[in-house]
Amino acid sequence: MENIRQAIERALAEGAPRPGVRNAAPSIPRRPLAEAHYEPSASKYEEAFLDDAHLRQGRVISQDLTDPLARSFDMLRTQLLQLMDGKKWKIVAVTSPTPACGKTVTSLNLALSVSRLQDRPVMVIDLDFARPMVAEVLGLSPSVVIGNVLEGTQKLSHAVIHAHVGKQELKVVPCSSMVGSAELMASRNMETLFRELRADFDSHVIIIDLPPILVSDDVITVLPWVDCILLVAAVGVSTVAQIEECKKHLQWAEVARVVLTKASESKTHLYYQYYGLAGRKG
Ligand SMILES: Nc1ncnc2c1ncn2[C@@H]1O[C@H](COP(=O)(O)OP(=O)(O)OP(=O)(O)O)[C@@H](O)[C@H]1O
Ligand SMILES: [Mg+2]
Repeated sequence: MENIRQAIERALAEGAPRPGVRNAAPSIPRRPLAEAHYEPSASKYEEAFLDDAHLRQGRVISQDLTDPLARSFDMLRTQLLQLMDGKKWKIVAVTSPTPACGKTVTSLNLALSVSRLQDRPVMVIDLDFARPMVAEVLGLSPSVVIGNVLEGTQKLSHAVIHAHVGKQELKVVPCSSMVGSAELMASRNMETLFRELRADFDSHVIIIDLPPILVSDDVITVLPWVDCILLVAAVGVSTVAQIEECKKHLQWAEVARVVLTKASESKTHLYYQYYGLAGRKG
């Protein structure tokens, strides 16, 4: 099993990607929802055309090959896909110790980076019922969400949005806040959902935007159904104690990579702490 210490060592190793070492986009006020426009089509899924300016306001920049910040996500993509392909893994879940570490921004930039590769279909699923943000950051206003699928009132295919930005495309399954989400996360329908994903979207890289590990048991509930974890920690937000706590929760999980975000927003305090952590045994 890859443990978190090894993953952090790799993240800090020379040349390893650190998405968000700089801000992924200038911090400017967000625009309202539903920037994407929808068009009728013959596609099996609802189609939406995303607005590049709206994406950038949410720090999503990987749709643009020429954006220098996209390179960090491309490096993360390449390393992650090498590992996933080698192990025949399909589903990576993105989590963090506590809220607001950059999970959603990382998930979406990673997905758009994957979508620039040929023959690499990619899907993002928002499973953060407490703070569902994928639809908002993408500018979508979905009528069907993953909660409806887990309740059994809608088919998965009805919740899938086929999103386009320029020539790139990705599939998105949005989420909305729901009462009783803990029960949904632990339901038999969740098991069914993951079986369906593996069967119907076999060729896809599936990225799950999860809640933080340390605020509920949602992540632990979903761990058996995913192949590996991307742990997002933010400089100035995450502490070594939190990472150690995550380590306990993730001891049976495959931690594919640790991503450090927001490094420019504070001094490199956590960065050096990580070196300390990496130097420890166990
Ligand atoms: N690399 C980064 N550099 C600077 N700011 C960032 C970076 N990544 C994300 N942010 C900002 O931090 C905030 C939280 O980001 P995001 O929503 O991606 O985090 P999250 O971990 O998904 O949060 P939540 O726990 O609420 O779901 C947002 O305002 C986002 O724009
Ligand atoms: Mg989020």
